[in-house]
Amino acid sequence: MGTIPDEKDTTSEEAQNREKTIKVLQGFSRKRFNLIPILQKVQGSLGYLPHEAMIEIAEYLDIPAIDVYGVTTFYNQFRLTPPGKHSIRVCLGTACHMKGGYITLDAWKRRLQIEPGETTADREFDLDTVACVGCCTMAPVTVVDDKPEGSVEPTRVDGILLAFEQERAGKKEVESESD
Ligand code: FES
Repeated sequence: MGTIPDEKDTTSEEAQNREKTIKVLQGFSRKRFNLIPILQKVQGSLGYLPHEAMIEIAEYLDIPAIDVYGVTTFYNQFRLTPPGKHSIRVCLGTACHMKGGYITLDAWKRRLQIEPGETTADREFDLDTVACVGCCTMAPVTVVDDKPEGSVEPTRVDGILLAFEQERAGKKEVESESD
C-alpha cells in the first residue's frame, strides 16, 4: 500500500528525531538510572524509538548503544518502528471472540497485509488486538483510531478502508487545487 518515504525524507526525519531527542535529554541528568524514563519520554515525543534516538541517548548517558537497544527490546512498552497514521485494534474479548472476532482479524490481516503488532509499509495503518473494550453488545468490535466500531464483519473491513481511501483521495484533490 502506498510508497515508502524516499531517502531525502528519511534523512530530514532522522535530523528531526535527533533534535527532538536532544530536547528531551536536556531535562535529565546524565545518570544511567534515567534510561527508562528517557526512553519513555522520547517515545512520547517521537511515537517510537528510532536508531538515531538510541544513539543520542547512549552518548548522553555514556553507555554502550547495545545496552539501550537491549532495554528497548526487553520491555514491550517500547516500539522500534514508526507508528501508522491510523490504528486498527481488533477486539478479541469473549463476546467479540464468540461473534467471530478472529475472522474479522483475519480480514484485516489480509487487507492490510500485516500481522498484529505491525505497521503497513506506507505507515498508514497499525494493526493490533485488544481485550474487551466495554462495547460487547456491538460485537464484533474493531477500534478504529480510538473509536469503537460495532458489527465489524469482514465486509465492513472493506467499507472502513474504503472510507479512508476516499478521505485520502479528497485531501489530495484539495492539495492539487491549492497548488
Ligand atoms: S469483548 Fe469485545 S467489546 Fe467486549
